[in-house]
Parts: sequence; structure tokens; C-alpha cells
Amino acid sequence: MRTKILLNEDEIPRQWYNLAADLPTPMAPPLGPDGKPISPEMLAPVFPMNLIEQEVSQERWIDIPEEVLQLLYRWRPAPLVRAHALEKALGTPARIYYKNESVSPAGSHKPNTAIPQAWYNKEFGIKKLTTETGAGQWGSALSFAGALIGLEIKVYMVRISFDQKPFRKVMMETWGGKCIPSPSNQTQAGRDVLAKDPDTPGSLGIAISEAIEEAVTDPKGETRYALGSVLNHVMLHQTIIGLEAKKQLEKAGEKNVDVVIGCAGGGSNFAGLSFPFIHDKINGADIDIIAVEPASCPTMTRAPFAYDHGDVAKMTPLLPMHSLGHTFVPAPIHAGGLRYHGIAPLVSAAINDNLIRAESLHQLECYQAAVTFARTEGIIIAPETSHAVASAIREANKAKDEGAEKVIVFNLSGHGLMDLLGYQKFFAGELHDYAMPEEELQKTVAQLADYPKP
Ligand SMILES: Cc1ncc(COP(=O)(O)O)c(C=O)c1O
Repeated sequence: MRTKILLNEDEIPRQWYNLAADLPTPMAPPLGPDGKPISPEMLAPVFPMNLIEQEVSQERWIDIPEEVLQLLYRWRPAPLVRAHALEKALGTPARIYYKNESVSPAGSHKPNTAIPQAWYNKEFGIKKLTTETGAGQWGSALSFAGALIGLEIKVYMVRISFDQKPFRKVMMETWGGKCIPSPSNQTQAGRDVLAKDPDTPGSLGIAISEAIEEAVTDPKGETRYALGSVLNHVMLHQTIIGLEAKKQLEKAGEKNVDVVIGCAGGGSNFAGLSFPFIHDKINGADIDIIAVEPASCPTMTRAPFAYDHGDVAKMTPLLPMHSLGHTFVPAPIHAGGLRYHGIAPLVSAAINDNLIRAESLHQLECYQAAVTFARTEGIIIAPETSHAVASAIREANKAKDEGAEKVIVFNLSGHGLMDLLGYQKFFAGELHDYAMPEEELQKTVAQLADYPKP
């Protein structure tokens, strides 16, 4: 009865997997302000060219630089854990495994891309990175990477999360990063939003606008912007999760995997675990791959596939993705990292090609699942992660009803030790479920009519 399935450092995957090379339907290109496909050069004020090359790459396998691997070894390969205690509590015949990404120094999967992004920027001669953060995990991860690699980091943190999680800022500062609440008075994008709504809880879309504005207006041209999710190169860097997991499942003697689950905000931890399994699915494997989102922000389950901006001030190109509309400000549920109006174009493409399916869950079921997990497996998970756990519990119960010995793998994207306010409110009965009314959904997606159809 093995519990932890570990890999040695010399067993770490040495290449990332690029799903773009294998999609049955090629992705529509990002569009510029003139409605025409953008060229890599148009992204140059925002990202360094070495990352832009990855963003547009159609290569199936991309080498991980040796220096990046050396930094990832601080916590990788990450354990794959068999959830014996959870299985027992549920009385399920299913074998449940989780990839524990909470073991990174910043507490989540986000350093898997923060490290390479910081490294490629440094290689390109960049001195400072700006970014947004929702729950604070990405801002922490980039601050951590900045400390290791030697870059200045400035983080715009969505105001509601900034207020809910004050210690995130201290974490970022400890690594040398600077964190301010968004919207702020430091950018035109922030000032515009504050003029209209001084009490706004903020949104990832607003924080992205502020971070991009600061990067592209640096008179010295030494600042670039880093995005913690959504873009192709971020999905790429995260595939190390699934590539490790596949080796570990083989070590555990599992020949087949039946269900793969990840929560999805911008889509990166889900993509990281699932894309290597999608590769198998494209090649004939029968795997049910589930992306889980909150019912209050139903991007994958209810929003149309459309061209939309990634941010409120329309500074990003138009991306082909499922989107609720870039001005959408989600309900302030506690899973801050899942409150994003869009979802990665690569994840959207996988939905459209029926390679994966999406599910939406309410927060009370997710918190209950998180408490069950803490009281069985012991880890207090992030509210984002609780969506994956709740879905895994549903699947394990289904397997019990069917009497099926299924193999279920989910991504434990982060710990929740900085998210205890949500738990406190859950125990006090102060949290509520919220599903977006159809009328509100139709109102917010109406803005997508302004753009070309992908
Ligand atoms: C722990 C954790 N899980 C999941 C997410 C969602 O992001 P993504 O969908 O890019 O993995 C976040 C985002 O902040 C997070 O902090």
C-alpha cells in the first residue's frame, strides 16, 4: 500500500509538451486592434521574444533549459500521493491519486511557470516584471522567482483578495516583490475604473490592464509583463505536472487512468496535469478529463466561444476563448484564482474538440469537500483546489455506485494556509452559493458582439 510515489531528480521530464501541435482543429490566431492576426513583433513591448517564440510554437516537445531545471529541483519532481484515507472515508472502490503542487516554496503550481518566465526575461536582458494576481498565489510565485533569478517584481493584486489575504503581500515583500491593491491610482487604467466605481472589488481583468500599462510605458524599455495563466507558453510550462504524473502512475503499477481532474481559473494547473493525458486521448486512450469552475463564474460551461480581450482596458490582443466578456466583474466568492472572465485558448480549443468536459460547482460543496480532505488526507487546500477535490469526490462516489475500480487523478494546485478567512466564514455559516442568473449572463456576453467570430 504505497502512499507517496516519488521520482528522483534525474527522472524529471526534460521537455515540455505543447498541445497546440496535436489539436485536431488548429487554433484561431490572436487578433490585433485592426481585426487582423497579430505578428510576434506586435507582442514585443509586452513579452520578451524568447517567450513569444514559445507562445506561437507548433513544436510538440520543447526543451526545458538546464538552468531552469536546476531551479525547479528545489521542490520538483513533486509527489504523486495515493489518497488512501479519503478513499476509505468515501468507501469507494476507486483509487484516487493527487499530484501535490502545494509543496513548492510559494505553495502552488504557479512557480512552474514563474521560474521559466523570469529566466527567459533575464536572458533577454529585462530588469523588471509587472504582473497581476488574484488569490495572491501567482504574485507570490513570481516574487519568489524574481528573488532566485534577480529581477524586480511589481504585483497588482485584485482589491478584494488584497483585503481578504493581507499576509500574501507580506510573503511577496519577503521575497523582495512589491504588491499594491488594484485598481490603483498608479495607472490610467486603474484611475479610469476608480472614477466610475470607487468601491469596486477589482478583477483580474483590471489588474492585468494596470500591469501591462506599467510594463509598456517604461521609458527605459527594461520592463516586461508576466501572465500567470491563460497564454500558450504558461500552459506549456505547467505540463511538467502531467508528464511527471504519468511516470509516477506507471511506477504505481497503474496501466490505465479513467478520470483526470483540475480546477480552472485561467486554465493553467488544469492544462498542466491534463494536456499530457489529452495527448494519450488523441492517440486512442479512453480518459474522462474534467475542468472544474465555480458556478458563479461559468466561463467554460455557459459562456460562448468568442474573440475577447484578456483585460478590461483592452490592452491584450483579441484571444479565441470561452468568455463572459472582459468587463465582467465576478461575484466575490472565496476562490479568487477562479474568478476570471475568460479561459485559456488552448483549454477552449480542447473543449471545442470534445477532448475534455467542463463542470461547474457551488462553493459550499467545495468547502465541504475541502474540510473532508483536511480531515482525511490532512492538507488544508486552497479554495480553488477545493473545486477539483469536490469533483474527485463526486467521481469516486459514482464509481462506488457503479462498483467500478476506477483510477482518478486530480491536481492539488495549492495549499490554503493563506486562505483561512474563507474557511472561517464557511464554519460560521456566512458563505452562500451563487449561480449567475441567465439574464445577467446574457447582458455581460452581449459585449462580445462587437468582435469578429473565431
Ligand atoms: C491554488 C490555485 N489553484 C488554481 C488557480 C487557478 O489558476 P489556473 O486555472 O491558471 O490554474 C489559482 C490561481 O490563482 C490558484 O492560486
